[in-house]
Amino acid sequence: MNHIAALAGRSPTPWPRKRSGGAAAPRSRSLLLCMASLLAVLAFFYFSYARVSTSLLRGSLEAAAPRPSRCEPRVRALGQRFLSYVPHSGFSNQLSEFKNAIVAAAVLNRTLVVPPVLDHHAVALGSCPKFRVLDGGEIRLAVWESAVELLRTGRYVSMADIIDISSLVSSSMIRTIDFRVFASIWCGVNIDLACNNGATGESPLFASLKQCGSFLSGFSGNVDECLYSVDEDCRSTVWTYQNGNDGELDSFQPDEQLKRKKKLTYVRRRRDLYKALGPGSQADSATLLAFGSLFTSAYKGSQLYFDIHEAPKDQRIQSIIEKIEFLPFVPQILSAGKEFALTTIKAPFVCAQLRLLDGQFKNHWKTTFLTLKEKVESLRQNGPLPIHIFVMTDLPEGNWSKTYLGDLAGDVDNFKLHFLQEEDELVIRTAKELANGGHGLRVGFVPNSFARMDKLKKQCAPRKLADVLLYIEEVICSCASLGFVGTAGSTIAESIESMRKHDVCSS
Ligand SMILES: *[C@@H]1O[C@H](CO)[C@@H](O)[C@H](O)[C@H]1NC(C)=O
Ligand SMILES: *[C@@H]1O[C@H](CO)[C@@H](O)[C@H](O)[C@H]1NC(C)=O
Repeated sequence: MNHIAALAGRSPTPWPRKRSGGAAAPRSRSLLLCMASLLAVLAFFYFSYARVSTSLLRGSLEAAAPRPSRCEPRVRALGQRFLSYVPHSGFSNQLSEFKNAIVAAAVLNRTLVVPPVLDHHAVALGSCPKFRVLDGGEIRLAVWESAVELLRTGRYVSMADIIDISSLVSSSMIRTIDFRVFASIWCGVNIDLACNNGATGESPLFASLKQCGSFLSGFSGNVDECLYSVDEDCRSTVWTYQNGNDGELDSFQPDEQLKRKKKLTYVRRRRDLYKALGPGSQADSATLLAFGSLFTSAYKGSQLYFDIHEAPKDQRIQSIIEKIEFLPFVPQILSAGKEFALTTIKAPFVCAQLRLLDGQFKNHWKTTFLTLKEKVESLRQNGPLPIHIFVMTDLPEGNWSKTYLGDLAGDVDNFKLHFLQEEDELVIRTAKELANGGHGLRVGFVPNSFARMDKLKKQCAPRKLADVLLYIEEVICSCASLGFVGTAGSTIAESIESMRKHDVCSS
C-alpha cells in the first residue's frame, strides 16, 4: 500500500496550490468546483497507478510462478464441474457442513471438493441469529490460508481421512476430489512441494498459492464459465429443495430493534437450491461453484441456512440424505475404539462425556456432574461392583480432585475409572495408521493426467494428527453397554448418541 501511495504521490501533473479563506461566496463556489475536479484528477491517477502497480506486482509473481488458471485448458480438460465450501469451528460442525455439502453437490450434480479438517479455533463464522457473520469471500480466504498452513506444517488431514465416504463414492452416489489434487490442478502448482515445507511460506510457490486462493475466494469477481462464488449466506437465505416455497420469507427474520441498530436491510428468504444455482442459472455454467459456510442449525422453528433434510420427490437425493444421516469413522478409528473397550476395559462400562472448559460449558459444571451422579448411583445400587466408567473430558486429570470426578477416582472399591490420553500407544499407533493410509487421497477423483499422486501421498502424509484421541474416545463411548452420560448441548454428545443409535460398536 505504501508503495502504491508513493507512486500516486509522484503524479506527473503538478497543480497550482490554491489558497482558501476570506473569499467571497461566488469565488469560493468556483474554488470548490476547482478543488472537486482536482480531487477527481487525483483520484483518477491514484486508481490508475494502483491498478498499474498491482498488475505489475502480479506480473512479477507470474514470472516467478505459474499464475492461477482462470479456467485454463487444464481445468476445462477435467470435464467436470466442482462445488467447494468452507469448513469452520469444531469437528462436529465441520462434519455437519460436510454432509450439507454432499447434499448440495448431489442436487447440483457437481464434484465435491473435500476439504481438510481445520483446527477447532482456526476459523469462526460468527453468529447467524445475530446477523453477524463473515462475508463469503473473507471466510473462503481464511479457510484457504488455514489449509495451506496445515500443508506447510505437516498437519493436513482430509475430512475423508477421518470420515469414511468410500461407499458413497464407489456406489456413484457422489463424486469427490481431494482439495490437494484440485488445488494442484487449478492453481497449476506442485502442491506436494508445499507439504512439510520448513520455509516460512514466502517462497514463490506460496505466493502463487496465495494469489490462487484469493482468486478462488472470489476477490477478482465471478468469471464466466469458470468461477461463481455464492455470496448468499444465513443473513439472507435458507436453501431448500423442491419445497414449493421458493422466494418466500423465512419465519425467522431480524427483529425491528436489530434492523434499526445495525441498519440491516436483510430479509431472509427460502430459496430453492436447484432453481437458484442449477441448470438455467448463471452459476450453472461455472466450472467451480464456491460456497462459503454451509453451517446450519435449528433456530426458532426454522433452519439458519440449509434446510434440505428430505426430498420425497427425488429418489436419488432422498437416498443420499438417508445414507449420510450417519457417516462412520474410517475403519482404523473404529477398530481402535473397539480394541480399547475389549482389551483395556474388559468389562461392561458406562461412558461419561464431560465437556467442562470450553465456552458455554464452563458455567454448567453442576448440572453436568449431577446427571452423571444420578446415573452412577443407580448403577451402584443395582450392579456388580466396581462399576467401570470410561471418562472423556477436557478437564485435565490434575484438576479432578475437588470435583465429583475426584470423588469417583478416590472410591476404588466402588468405581474403576478408565481414560485415554494423547500419548497412549493406541492413539499414536492409530494416528500413524491413518497417516499412512491416505484414505482421503484414495477415494476421490484423480485425473489421468495428474502425475504427482505418489509425491502427494508421500510428502503430504500428516506428521501429526491432532484429534485422533477425540475420535477414538467417541467410538469407545459408543461401545459403553451400561449407558452413556453426555454434556447437554455438546455436539460431541450428539455425535456419540448417533453412533450408539447406529450400533457402530457391534458392526
Ligand atoms: C451429472 O453429471 C455427469 C458428469 O458430469 C453427467 O454424466 C450426468 O449426465 C449428469 N446427470 C444429470 C442428472 O444431469
Ligand atoms: C487446573 O490446575 C492448574 C494447576 O494446578 C490451575 O492453574 C488451573 O487453574 C486449574 N484449572 C481449572 C479449570 O480448575
